[in-house]
Amino acid sequence: MGKKLIAGNWKMNGTLDEAKTLIAAIVNGIHQNPSVLEKCDVLVCPSFVHLGVVRHALKTVNTVAMGAQNCSKFPDGAHTGSVSAAMLKDAKCSYVILGHSERRQNRGESNETVAAKAEQAHKAGLNAIICVGETELQREEGQEKAVVEKQLAKSIPASATAQNTVIAYEPVWAIGTGKTATPEDIKTMHAFIRESLPPTLKNCRILYGGSMKPDNAKAILATPNVDGGLIGGASLKTADFLAIAQSA
Ligand code: PGA
Repeated sequence: MGKKLIAGNWKMNGTLDEAKTLIAAIVNGIHQNPSVLEKCDVLVCPSFVHLGVVRHALKTVNTVAMGAQNCSKFPDGAHTGSVSAAMLKDAKCSYVILGHSERRQNRGESNETVAAKAEQAHKAGLNAIICVGETELQREEGQEKAVVEKQLAKSIPASATAQNTVIAYEPVWAIGTGKTATPEDIKTMHAFIRESLPPTLKNCRILYGGSMKPDNAKAILATPNVDGGLIGGASLKTADFLAIAQSA
């Protein structure tokens, strides 16, 4: 397996100044310790309105990639309030996070919508990070594999390849809760995801996400079939984010 991908999902946090300060600190931290990049690729995903300042900070820096947290399922046109994949590409994004559980649960995003968005992302030349994961109840009922299998089967468009698609396994009960899946649970699920993927995606990166912190990152990132992390809360703290990258 190649390099890990350490991705920060900044969610709906911070001011413009805070985004500027955060990206400057991340770039500076990597500059001070470039060996981080031998083991991993680093990605930050700010909100749409913060893409400009982050891009500005990264203009002359090729160590950190930039992504968005959503895109439209339509290519362009009369969709007030939406942002297309092509606009994100034009704004210098290289990735977009799709089907995050916060959107599946709170925005009613179906697997089919996620697949349509991922197809737009691929058409625009973006890498799609497609999120999957079960709720606590589904796990208690022993349904976690069935849920994830269905999400994989229906959220991945035919345009997906191992080069343009990343899968993120994020158990919903572990997101922002401080609860992490055990390395054993992660090992089982990541192996299952790898087996369930279509042949064109067999070698794609599979990230883990859900309360990843400096103190658990090393064990998680050392688990077979874990090719990186999607980090929420800890990605807003430069030291924590870089410590996670360091442990890759
Ligand atoms: P968390 O979020 O690291 O704060 O649990 C992860 C995510 O939602 O991507």
